[in-house]
Amino acid sequence: MNQAKPLDGKVAIVTGAAGGVGRATVELLTRRGASVVAEDVDANVANLEAPNVAAVAGDVRKAGTARKAVEVALARFGRLDILVNNAAVIITKDILSTEEDEWNDLMAVNVTGVFHHCRAVLPEMIKQKSGSIVSVSSISGLVGLPLQAAYCASKGAIVQLTRQLAVDYAEHGVRVNSVAPGSVDTPFLTRYLDSQPDPVAAERAIKAAHPMGRIGSPQEIAEVIAFLASDASSFITGAILSADGGYVAR
Ligand SMILES: NC(=O)c1ccc[n+]([C@@H]2O[C@H](COP(=O)([O-])OP(=O)(O)OC[C@H]3O[C@@H](n4cnc5c(N)ncnc54)[C@H](O)[C@@H]3O)[C@@H](O)[C@H]2O)c1
Repeated sequence: MNQAKPLDGKVAIVTGAAGGVGRATVELLTRRGASVVAEDVDANVANLEAPNVAAVAGDVRKAGTARKAVEVALARFGRLDILVNNAAVIITKDILSTEEDEWNDLMAVNVTGVFHHCRAVLPEMIKQKSGSIVSVSSISGLVGLPLQAAYCASKGAIVQLTRQLAVDYAEHGVRVNSVAPGSVDTPFLTRYLDSQPDPVAAERAIKAAHPMGRIGSPQEIAEVIAFLASDASSFITGAILSADGGYVAR
């Protein structure tokens, strides 16, 4: 029997597509039937190019990158249903050691990048009277974590922008949600661990901080993104869905 896939006919933009969670999301969305514009500042994003994946190299800090992704989605796949705001960077510093340009640069990627992309996709989604925006926040957007002054602030901003956009665009048929992952096994986490004085002890401590006693996989986060992107979550908007092995529950 030819079973319909849950994302058949849907078109998505995924930022940070060359990284751990982004790549897993592109793979899962396409497996579920979607076509995807895979966007990243890393030129390796070109390796994702496929009949149902259009690779766009660009920096989320620039409004033009978001506009280009929308143009490519419409030109190549004919519509636009899903935006996954996933690109981000981290600085592991307290506020006193964070330089102003470091703060500004992190905010430009993690927050202004989301701003540009939401502004670029919303007119199309409003015209279509449907759409789903999923932004990747973090446990760092929900609780204070040591030495993450700029990063926690940026992920908290995503939480609030998610709720605010959900309120403004519900009447237009656009849902806006966020996933807040705990630690996930990606190059992002590896870089964080490598920056610690004792990476092995840091990894042990991270695992212990999650009640499930382990780090998540990129595929586990992609599953939550795919759920929020799909019609299976049709009555969910403004939600911050934790996927953190119980981290913020304790
Ligand atoms: N890995 C974790 O432990 C963890 C935990 C909580 C939340 N997150 C969040 O998950 C998301 C994905 O992170 P990941 O773990 O896959 O990290 P990753 O480093 O593997 O991927 C991030 C991607 O974003 C891209 N990127 C960075 N700056 C960019 C820019 N200016 N323009 C365009 N692309 C840019 C990078 O090139 C990279 O491919 C991020 O939002 C991160 O904050 C990760």
